[in-house]
Amino acid sequence: MYLISTREMLKNAQRGRYAIPAFNVHNLETIQVVVETAANMASPVILAGTPSTFTYAGLEYIVSICTQAASLNKLPLALHLDHHEELTDICHKVKAGVRSVMIDASHLPFAENIDTVANVVQFCHRYDVSVEAELGRLGGQEDELIVDSKESFYTDPSAAKKYVAQTGIDSLAVAIGSAHGLYHDEPHLDFKRLAEIQRQVDIPLVLHGASGISEEMIRQSISLGICKVNVATDLKIAFADAVKQYLSEHPDANDPRKYITPGKQAMQQVVENKILMCNSAGKI
Ligand code: 13P
Repeated sequence: MYLISTREMLKNAQRGRYAIPAFNVHNLETIQVVVETAANMASPVILAGTPSTFTYAGLEYIVSICTQAASLNKLPLALHLDHHEELTDICHKVKAGVRSVMIDASHLPFAENIDTVANVVQFCHRYDVSVEAELGRLGGQEDELIVDSKESFYTDPSAAKKYVAQTGIDSLAVAIGSAHGLYHDEPHLDFKRLAEIQRQVDIPLVLHGASGISEEMIRQSISLGICKVNVATDLKIAFADAVKQYLSEHPDANDPRKYITPGKQAMQQVVENKILMCNSAGKI
């Protein structure tokens, strides 16, 4: 078993009108929970890591653990570079075995965003690596960066058409009202805009910032072309809350195998719910 690109996975989801859940992982335990749960539910799944995750856990460790997880669970797995910005960093990680990349140039002016992304696509497609890019910008906590909601802006559907044609990307991340991290107010998604983007663009669309968004809104997004749903914060909260509770009930606990287990169980519940929400169970 080896790590695969997300191209076919996302095209299958687009044809079948469901979405692939993409979970941000950080270590052995998060990878185990996500992969074992997806395997039990026969769901395709994407494991995502931001640059700071690879710095924290180590590229070689993450690639090796994901490859082993794919093999042990007999599940073709995609390890995806989430919010990467540097071509040299992407090249290095592709050469280490990663086959799915997000190049995030959404902070750059339109023409520079296109040039940057087109360069990455040119490199990645030579290695059969799929590429996602973002047009528009989400607010909230993005890896180590806080993007103020004033700096966020929504995806323009006609610009999206030009962007996809000129970059050659395989999937497009859209900004339609979701944000990374915790929501301070009730989130609202601009479904009219999403429907228009879907009319203009024929590649799979990606929803970032899916934690804290209702199941109903996620399902409606999927019906309008979202084929990949990114989840990070909901997993972190479930894990941390369960570990904190265990430690408060067992103040003398010091064995990680004991206090991490309730965190893994809480995370498993979230992964199951997101797979059901994406309607990806049984789609292997
Ligand atoms: P959340 O942390 O809001 O779930 O966002 C995850 C994400 O979009 C990763 O790219």
